[in-house]
Amino acid sequence: MAARKAWGGRFTQGTDEAVERFSASVHFDRALARYDLRGSIAHAQMLAKTGVIPSEDAARLVAGLEALEVDLDEGRLEWDPAHEDVHMNLEMRLREKVGEVAGKLHTGRSRNDQVATDLLLYLRDAARAARLGLATLREVLVERAAEHLDTVLPGYTHLQRAQPVRLAHHWLAFFEMFGRDAARLRDFETRIALSPLGSGALAGSTLPLDRAQTANALGFGGPSRNSMDSVASRDAPLEFLSACAIAAVHLSRLAEELVLWASSEFDFIEMADAYSTGSSLMPQKKNPDVPELVRGKSGRVIGDLVTLLTVAKGLPLTYNRDLQEDKEPVFDAADTLAQCLEVMAGALATLTVRSERMREAASDPMLLATDLAEDLVREGVPFREAHEVVGKIVAHCVAEDVDLRDLGRDALRDFHPAFSASAGELLSLEGALERRNAVGQTARGRVAEALDTARRETAAERRELERGREVR
Ligand code: ARG
Repeated sequence: MAARKAWGGRFTQGTDEAVERFSASVHFDRALARYDLRGSIAHAQMLAKTGVIPSEDAARLVAGLEALEVDLDEGRLEWDPAHEDVHMNLEMRLREKVGEVAGKLHTGRSRNDQVATDLLLYLRDAARAARLGLATLREVLVERAAEHLDTVLPGYTHLQRAQPVRLAHHWLAFFEMFGRDAARLRDFETRIALSPLGSGALAGSTLPLDRAQTANALGFGGPSRNSMDSVASRDAPLEFLSACAIAAVHLSRLAEELVLWASSEFDFIEMADAYSTGSSLMPQKKNPDVPELVRGKSGRVIGDLVTLLTVAKGLPLTYNRDLQEDKEPVFDAADTLAQCLEVMAGALATLTVRSERMREAASDPMLLATDLAEDLVREGVPFREAHEVVGKIVAHCVAEDVDLRDLGRDALRDFHPAFSASAGELLSLEGALERRNAVGQTARGRVAEALDTARRETAAERRELERGREVR
């Protein structure tokens, strides 16, 4: 059923109503409106400067576009799905404001280079927002870590108690992961520095456009180098989505630990009431919904990445309408990540640590078995042999139900003559932490150093992000 006349003189029949509904994107791509208006203002000004359109016309276009910016800020812009996407909606609104001269705005431009430009501008802000969220989360991690320099818990491998660590060291591990996530986004910003605008539909324009001018006006470092690449490629949103997905996976792992630690089985932490919910059925329950949802939402962000990878993989150059499917995953990932970062920072900042419970779990003498083997190594025994010997000692302790630390020097020597002292002398929780004293290890001084470095790093990142905001 024909709903409306398709735009352009080529068509004699309107678009089918179902097709119109199917292909409309304005209900989501209006998130690009701000960037679209900025791009249009830069484009109109360039058209006047190069003499493609008269200055008076450009002035009217710019005034109209600026009025639309105000409408947008004040929530007065209305969106009409009959006009398909954000670009055509804004052009239609511009026509309402300035009349027929609106028809001159799209000179030397295609929606293909327009949407590519809008998307990069959006991604630039989204990357900044994600970096800000990461910065806040990292600040919280450092502060919580600093409170717990002397809180000891078991470190785990295979979710089995492995060796004792400081809680500060444990949380700083996530600090490092989130730091690389932020660095990935920062690095990504350097790869979205060239402007697609002026690439036209795919091969540019016969009109004398000044691509350097629009690039400069929009804060790019210059025009992109290949018009076909500019309208066809989507590795920028893909890279952003990859960075988001990796960060979401890091959040999910941290979230999973909070869920475990809040269980009665671990009882290492208690989540604040503000970050927990009750059960509608079981009055005793206090559920860690926030970390659970963060863990769950990582699935969406991973899905967003996979969606766009799949959309892009079979496309011939250059633009294909499939590419309209790039936007929802990008918006979803940006919004989801921002929310997850915010609530995780809050959840971490407000949870209570049960240090005694952690220490109790870390006091399992079996966590010191590696140290016993390393005593033999210091006496010249090959590690493989030492490992074997201590394995037998552990088995003996389990079978006889004795504490590893109660084995005297003679008892140890029954297993290997090279033991230098009694287990009681060789093994202690503090010793295990302190003797691991190389860079990146658990000794108190090392972790304190790491905290200092972490504080300096977050302060520098915060300063850089604030500088960036002034520039824009
Ligand atoms: N809404 C479209 C998109 O997001 C804009 C580009 C349309 N270009 C075209 N040749 N139909 O991809």
